[in-house]
Amino acid sequence: MLNNIATNQDYPVIDKSNDLYKRAQGLIPCYTQTLAKGPTQYVNGIAPKYLVKGKGSHVWDADGNEYIDFNMGIGPLILGYAYPAIDEAIRRQLDDGITFSLMHPLEVEVAEMLREIIPNAESVRYSKSGADVTSAAIRIARAYTGRSKILCCGYHGWHDWYVSTIALNAGIPEAVKDLTFTFSFNDIESFLLSIDDDIAAVILEPVVFEAPRDNILYKIAETCRERGTILIFDEMWTGFRMSNGGAQEYFGIKADMATFSKAIANGMPLSVLTGRRDLMQVLEDEVFFFTTFGGEALSLAAAKATIIEMKNKNVITTISATGEILKEGYNKIAAELSLDFTKAIGYSFRTMVTFDEKAGNPLELKSFVQQELIKRGILWSGMHNISYSHSIQDIEYTLSAYKEVLGLLKDAVRDNTVLRQIRGIPVQPTFRKTSGFNTKPRNQK
Ligand SMILES: Cc1ncc(COP(=O)(O)O)c(C=O)c1O
Repeated sequence: MLNNIATNQDYPVIDKSNDLYKRAQGLIPCYTQTLAKGPTQYVNGIAPKYLVKGKGSHVWDADGNEYIDFNMGIGPLILGYAYPAIDEAIRRQLDDGITFSLMHPLEVEVAEMLREIIPNAESVRYSKSGADVTSAAIRIARAYTGRSKILCCGYHGWHDWYVSTIALNAGIPEAVKDLTFTFSFNDIESFLLSIDDDIAAVILEPVVFEAPRDNILYKIAETCRERGTILIFDEMWTGFRMSNGGAQEYFGIKADMATFSKAIANGMPLSVLTGRRDLMQVLEDEVFFFTTFGGEALSLAAAKATIIEMKNKNVITTISATGEILKEGYNKIAAELSLDFTKAIGYSFRTMVTFDEKAGNPLELKSFVQQELIKRGILWSGMHNISYSHSIQDIEYTLSAYKEVLGLLKDAVRDNTVLRQIRGIPVQPTFRKTSGFNTKPRNQK
């Protein structure tokens, strides 16, 4: 029987997913183009591996099983899958063409819209991936300041300057590795110890799950100003999610540059760099940042429609309210079951379920919950990326599933059978680290 969220009885049949997976073996390294979508992030043997359709907040896998999705394409689907107003805008543009031999008017129109809503958007450029624009921002900062070192906090994409800081950094020259260092979020000391007058730019995700404490964002901005260091907010997750103008608007802080992607075009591939006009001026005649598909029109049409819809429907307020019900509901269930080792954390627009080591291996606990949620028609990898299409019924259904699954988890922890009950290969760690690694030795020049 197909897994349907109303009628599901068992773990889904995933034969077609598994056939595709076999075909990809040895052909597509890691199987996936996006780590968070790949087989290491789902219980291998139980979870579906390929999705073929989405509508609203629901998705269907290659075998026809239906799920409520809480990943939403790893962030982009802020309004939901196959959202009529956006798809209509894409279709209308498709009738006229996808990409052209000269510039397209949408490049100007969308830039004007962004200037209205993003506090620092005196200048705007487009590209295709998040890494494109974080790397462009770094190059601009280096060109403008004449300095080379970078301090970062968060994840900023696959390019050399950032990936040199993580363990998976083969293929990057040593000279590059010596230029980027990290500091820990909410640890002003780690920031102040690292910053010196060689730092071209400080780039950070203004928030991930933890709220900033002790005015740290203002202190960072102030220190950057004093030292002539460029401040870049990486707003891939906060942009078009925390508020229409992102963390800059939410916290009332202007960064020198900011980078956006994910939610901006409800699933179409677009990224945006915004910033101070005098700074971005270096793009005119010093810094090279051009790419074939930068002004591709389907994505810009989608972005225009997404921005209009987000403003008109007050999407930010809705996703925050929906996310809050889910977060509070999860924490209430955990408290009622006296499970003190798991909780939902983060801003309500994007929360994460955590598992404490005191109850066992967190990845095994997560795998157990994931497996049981999949059985109940919920595609989950620890996050709640809330979209405008997640309905109250979706949330109520999810909370009823959590109630059952956390009850089962409680018994499994008590009986020490968590691993034994996982019917496939448990999920693997991601490399995503945001604190306490590759820090800069004090005053290293
Ligand atoms: C905060 C942040 N910055 C940058 C990126 C890189 O974006 P992309 O994967 O589109 O290159 C990501 C991707 O998840 C991200 O979360």
